[in-house]
Amino acid sequence: MKPETIALHAGYDCDPATKAVAVPIYQTVAYSFDSAAHGAALFDLEVEGFRYTRIGNPTTAVLEKRVAELEGGIDALAVSSGQTALTYTALNVAERGQNIVSVPQLYGTTHTLFAHILPKFGVTARFGKSDRAADLERLIDENTRALFCETVGNPAGNVCDLEALAQVAQRARIPLIVDNTVPTPILIRPFDYGAHLVIHSLTKFMGGHGTTLGGAIVDSGRFPWKEEAARFPTFSQPDESYHGLVYTEHYGDKAFLGRVRSVYNRTMGAVISPFNAFLLLQGIETVALRVERHVDNARRAAEFLRADPRVASVSYAGFPDNPYYALAQKYLGGRACSLMTFEIKGGFDAGTRFYDALRLFKRLVNLGDAKSLACHPASTTHRQMSAEEQRTAGVSPETIRLSIGIEHIDDIIADLDQALAAATAKP
Ligand SMILES: Cc1ncc(COP(=O)(O)O)c(C=O)c1O
Repeated sequence: MKPETIALHAGYDCDPATKAVAVPIYQTVAYSFDSAAHGAALFDLEVEGFRYTRIGNPTTAVLEKRVAELEGGIDALAVSSGQTALTYTALNVAERGQNIVSVPQLYGTTHTLFAHILPKFGVTARFGKSDRAADLERLIDENTRALFCETVGNPAGNVCDLEALAQVAQRARIPLIVDNTVPTPILIRPFDYGAHLVIHSLTKFMGGHGTTLGGAIVDSGRFPWKEEAARFPTFSQPDESYHGLVYTEHYGDKAFLGRVRSVYNRTMGAVISPFNAFLLLQGIETVALRVERHVDNARRAAEFLRADPRVASVSYAGFPDNPYYALAQKYLGGRACSLMTFEIKGGFDAGTRFYDALRLFKRLVNLGDAKSLACHPASTTHRQMSAEEQRTAGVSPETIRLSIGIEHIDDIIADLDQALAAATAKP
């Protein structure tokens, strides 16, 4: 089926008990066992079924199937936020003494996780000088366990050359892990280009209404964990924390998420609530329509800004002179994302005046809401980075990031126009 149809139907037909057409919210902590033997069989993973919502829940299971199918993966795990998805994935792939090689253009908190938090657990990150395959490949050594990128970087708007990165990962025999939050599977499915695992903040375009935090890890099923047992022994050795379970044997191609569910979700417990899973499913039903409108509105807003003499520069991959134009044509079918950055003439002060004058655009730190949003990354999302790190991540003190919503384009442009007038008015 096509994405528009998957978004509405995948993972659910109707409730077997009641025939309810909307996905029911199974707001329960636990599930009753038929007998002691049934409970034991569930805990031994000998029979399918739910035990406790920290391990799995029927509403969340529909969300997982839907996101997996949208991405063309074989399995997904939904968790409490995009950050949980990133943390669990990093911990599942790398251990003390090992490292992850990453592009430098990252969402600020992901950078903080990699640069400052994971090292406390003995896992380090090495950031490339750029997102180019050669710059990343030279950082890989025998202790590297993953190559990481955002398909389209937040806020840099860079479009990664996934095929080239997948080749690097293949040569190093490590998984390519891609955060596909910004474009969503409506614009690109990283598995089609050789990625092994996809991460989502479902909080953004997927949920789409700025109401609900959620995250997902999606597995393509294509990384050979069993054959690569020397590099990734945790998947093929008996796990003492789970009475000797061998993940590659029990879960086969789904070993990666089997372990995240059994180890990290079970013991660390950053699960998504069934109610949030329901709200995200509601959002996902319309993701294809919304993304289409986001993309159209973004193109017109970017054209307006670029033609305006009060604007110094606009970074938008839909312009032929943008360095990522060719990659946006190849990977996004020319549909550049609705996240863009720009700078106005007059530097930081004029930028602040513009930001303060916005009326329709919300001043906040979020993206991918149906509403138009504006963010000043240097003072908020990317504040923890050094000036040098901000520069490589595509953030200057003047940068304003816009997430163009699905309002009428005339109203979006009118707000940008009046805020530019307020920012550049002579005192
Ligand atoms: C690209 C990207 N990945 C991950 C996240 C983290 O998602 P969450 O806020 O759901 O934890 C964000 C948040 O802005 C993001 O932009």
